[in-house]
Amino acid sequence: MPAQIRLLIIEDVPQVAQYIRQLLDPQAQIKLIDVLADGTHALAEAERLRPDVVMVDMLLQGKVKGPALIDEFRGSSLGVPIVALTVPQHPVIRSPERGIHQVLSMPFSGFDLINVVQAAFALRAEARGEIQTRMVAVYAPKGGVGKTTIAFNLAVAIARRGPRTALVDGCLQFGDLRSLLKVPLDAPSIVDLPTDRVASADLTDVLWRDPSGIDILLAPPRVEMAEMVMTRDVDKAMAMLRQAYRVVVVDLPTTISDVSLAFLDASDTILSIVTYDSTTLRNTAAVAEAFRTIGYPDDKIRYVVNRADSAGGLPVDQLESAIGRKPDFGIISDGRLVVASNNDGVPFVLTSPDSQVSKDVDAIASALLTDQRSLAVVGHG
Ligand SMILES: Nc1ncnc2c1ncn2[C@@H]1O[C@H](COP(=O)(O)OP(=O)(O)OP(=O)(O)O)[C@@H](O)[C@H]1O
Ligand SMILES: [Mg+2]
Repeated sequence: MPAQIRLLIIEDVPQVAQYIRQLLDPQAQIKLIDVLADGTHALAEAERLRPDVVMVDMLLQGKVKGPALIDEFRGSSLGVPIVALTVPQHPVIRSPERGIHQVLSMPFSGFDLINVVQAAFALRAEARGEIQTRMVAVYAPKGGVGKTTIAFNLAVAIARRGPRTALVDGCLQFGDLRSLLKVPLDAPSIVDLPTDRVASADLTDVLWRDPSGIDILLAPPRVEMAEMVMTRDVDKAMAMLRQAYRVVVVDLPTTISDVSLAFLDASDTILSIVTYDSTTLRNTAAVAEAFRTIGYPDDKIRYVVNRADSAGGLPVDQLESAIGRKPDFGIISDGRLVVASNNDGVPFVLTSPDSQVSKDVDAIASALLTDQRSLAVVGHG
């Protein structure tokens, strides 16, 4: 997995090239290695520069026009994914077999541009037998701060953006997802995963398919069954989920045990939920210290302030000094919508996508999907 996706553009309109440069300038995920204004030597240049993704303007003028250039690339041994750039008057259909792996239509935002380039890149990784997965643990050292609510809605928000997403109830003793989603008591759980020789087929039988579009690995139906789950079961389950899902979100309990540490270790990102509450802040600071001692890099942890608009009298800077930096995300308080959605067992990101609380959760989904840092690449099993 390169730190940056190296992009080569073949574009003869200087204004468009300049616009793309401007969009890519403030970010580090994509590196623009060159813009060629002429298609004639584009393939030779690509062979020399070895880009990860090539963008071709379909309306490219000159001796070699856009579609002809894409044919050249498709016929070559480079195997580089192509993004076709077009305008609404000339619709282009995405067609990997014709060498058009993604389409970007003007006008587009920086977000669209990055998304499309990353999607094209992911396609190549997949073709090479690698898949990119992201495991996100939702954690807080204090109960009732919104972990389950956020984990569920975040997983659905991510799935809505395309990637296949699984949600894991990591609260093995008192898992909330069963009751939240009104899952029957006999629905299988993590303890039903065969531990000796697990195959992906077994995984399919054990996951709960929620109508919200995500698949869920439930906690055991009875409290005492939690003890049956060992750290190596967690490692196995996570490795298997990584093979089958692009994103895995885990709802964790407040207590740090061997098992919850196994989940945290396996995660690429820990979303630490904080609220304006002095106990939460104190515990969060203590846990941040513990994470540092364990050796988690600082950028593995992202802070989400839940009910960010209700400071409850606590000075805002107290939160920043407790976590030692500015929080990464905020979610506003919306008691009416959140409580009603939880009671119905439906995600508010689907039922009320335009509400602020849904937009706040979706912003986290979007940031996680465009963030190339701490992204694991695993071989396809
Ligand atoms: N942004 C929000 N606005 C309004 N209410 C919220 C918000 N986030 C969570 N809540 C409410 O707070 C309560 C606790 O949420 P939730 O069960 O998700 O927390 P938790 O951290 O998973 O709790 P536990 O520690 O018991 O697992 C719920 O009643 C939920 O509806
Ligand atoms: Mg919970």
